[in-house]
Amino acid sequence: MSKLAKLNLGETEIELPVMEGTEGEKAIDISKLRAETKFVTFDNGLGNTGACTSSITFIDGEKGILKHRGYTIENLCDKSSFLETSYLLFHGHFPTANELSDLKAQIKEKSKIPDGIKSLIKSFPQDAHPMGITSAAVVALSGYYPHLLDQDLSVDKKNEIFPLMLGQLKAITAGVYRHGQGKDMIDSDLSLDYTADFLYLMNGEKPNEEVAKSLDVLLLLHADHEQNCSTSTVRVVGSSKANLFASVSSGIDALWGPLHGGANQAVLEMLEAIKNDGGGYEKFILKAKDKEDPFKLMGFGHRVYKNFDPRAKVIKGYCDTILEKLNVQDPLLDIANGLEATALSDEYFASRKLFPNVDFYSGIIYKALGIPTNMFTVMFALGRQPGWIAQWKEMSETKGIKITRPRQIYLGKTDEKL
Ligand code: SDX
Repeated sequence: MSKLAKLNLGETEIELPVMEGTEGEKAIDISKLRAETKFVTFDNGLGNTGACTSSITFIDGEKGILKHRGYTIENLCDKSSFLETSYLLFHGHFPTANELSDLKAQIKEKSKIPDGIKSLIKSFPQDAHPMGITSAAVVALSGYYPHLLDQDLSVDKKNEIFPLMLGQLKAITAGVYRHGQGKDMIDSDLSLDYTADFLYLMNGEKPNEEVAKSLDVLLLLHADHEQNCSTSTVRVVGSSKANLFASVSSGIDALWGPLHGGANQAVLEMLEAIKNDGGGYEKFILKAKDKEDPFKLMGFGHRVYKNFDPRAKVIKGYCDTILEKLNVQDPLLDIANGLEATALSDEYFASRKLFPNVDFYSGIIYKALGIPTNMFTVMFALGRQPGWIAQWKEMSETKGIKITRPRQIYLGKTDEKL
């Protein structure tokens, strides 16, 4: 294949370099397009635009493949823990036994949040949405770790901030939950591993191993996902050389939206609405297909996957086993299964390649684990944080990285006079 693409603009024709990734995807490098032609490109939603190069995650949307550093998500779920996969994302290789125990020890040392952060969380109304509190608490960490505010952190400081953020967000997430329940925050049980300690911090009692293991897989499944809306936000904010606290806090804000991470909460609300409406989902399918109705089938469709989201497959498989182990009967699971089967056999969804995504079934498990609906997206953030940090680090280490500053096509008035 030619390493150059020819672009004919009528009077001018230019040649642009062609890039090829290690998984075979191809791109036209338009870095010099405007300088040579005065043209810019236009790409609504940037679905056709590569914003960066990366070696962390690869998705083949047509085939429903997700890999982190070359390992498939199914292999990682089978053979690794959330912390091991987090280490892989950040460092680029799996941890040795010593490296893993060192990471665990560092996280345990850094799992206690400053009293000022606890006060900040408690200063919010008890019914404030947990995502707003979490975002505020994360950026407020910048006030307590001023030595970590540079973006050009040394290797030592990067290796300090990684376990710090994992430990702090674990405690913040549990603290935000307890604030919403009107309970005081508690400190970690250092005898427990990451996910088990998170559940302890939430509920004040040691969780059963199955519950902790199930949540660990859920966190792993959310760990990273290429340049999705929130990760792109982390990169854009970080490209101004803003610190990691500000960048992750911005990622949390982007994730809040119901078209993105907020979908897991919206899916449960949709399933509850279907149940309260007598359990018939045909009406909701019709609403989702009605162009006059803004309603979308939450948990369905994806910008990249035009096949099953492999994470949805893993989570769906877990639903049955977890509910059985927890001895939980949830009619919402039956509604979700029926809704999925009906939608997948409907021409509207089939022709648009709309399949269940990661958010469609995750809420069923969070609910079975006793996590309230308004905490679902914070759980997504807890899982996604290692990916955000890894992508921020990769960006900060990329030679020649520039501040993100897209162009526009101006459609406004011209030559006005006062
Ligand atoms: C996440 O990017 C990532 O990687 C995100 C994520 C991650 O891990 O970071 O995977 C997490 O955000 C998953 C997505 C969660 N969101 C939802 O479940 C919300 C419901 N889904 C839709 O809003 C939508 O599918 C999006 C936002 C996810 C994707 O939107 P796109 O790619 O912009 O799709 P589109 O709007 O161009 O849709 C194409 C067509 C349109 O109809 P036509 O104009 O062709 O007639 O499909 C329709 C859309 O109206 N459509 C839907 C639909 N999703 C798309 N119609 C009904 N219900 C839906 N859910």
